[in-house]
Amino acid sequence: MKIFLDTANLEQIRQANALGAIEGVTTNPSLLAKEKGDWRKTVRQICKEIDGPVSVEVIATESPAMLAEARDLVKIAPNVVVKVPVTLEGLKTIKELHLRGIETNATLVFSANQALLAAKAGATFVSPFIGRLDDIGHDGMQLVQDLVSIFRNYELPTQVLAASIRSASHFSQAALLGADAITIPLSVLLDLTKHPLTDIGLAKFLSDWAKK
Ligand code: E4P
Repeated sequence: MKIFLDTANLEQIRQANALGAIEGVTTNPSLLAKEKGDWRKTVRQICKEIDGPVSVEVIATESPAMLAEARDLVKIAPNVVVKVPVTLEGLKTIKELHLRGIETNATLVFSANQALLAAKAGATFVSPFIGRLDDIGHDGMQLVQDLVSIFRNYELPTQVLAASIRSASHFSQAALLGADAITIPLSVLLDLTKHPLTDIGLAKFLSDWAKK
């Protein structure tokens, strides 16, 4: 499972990158809006920092304007992946970008049907939003399981990118289910390193060593 960081914050990206686990970044308009300064410059810096796909979302909602934005986004850096919502206009856009050899991340996926259509249109990644489904009383992780099975059934090359991740438990469940990739906030990445027995064990080793 590839691990991406879900942020547009350079400091967080540098902190996560130092751990050697990060293979890409996903941004979205809400995350980029939180960062000060010119968003293009921020995206360019992120793309330099990370040797892997960096998802950047289109803001337009009609396909011709989405395509124009996408052409602009991929000029920023070669590792930009164009994030497109799975609306009707978004699906048209994904298809056109696929025909032009541009990688896409179909976002705001909440059903297997949406994901299957995005895969048919040629999406590189589909992003099921686990946490947001859990928030409304659905089982977000069930969607990951469904997508992994469906894409395997039909040998679809589109990668399942588990998104809207809220906990370390989401992370291990997605890995067990065979998600191709996951995008996590820094807080979840840091939680993955924690175990009380590691802390207790280290404290004991150090206190025993101090008695030598
Ligand atoms: C995915 O690419 C999105 O940026 C993200 O995972 C959304 O997560 P949220 O539901 O925590 O905002």
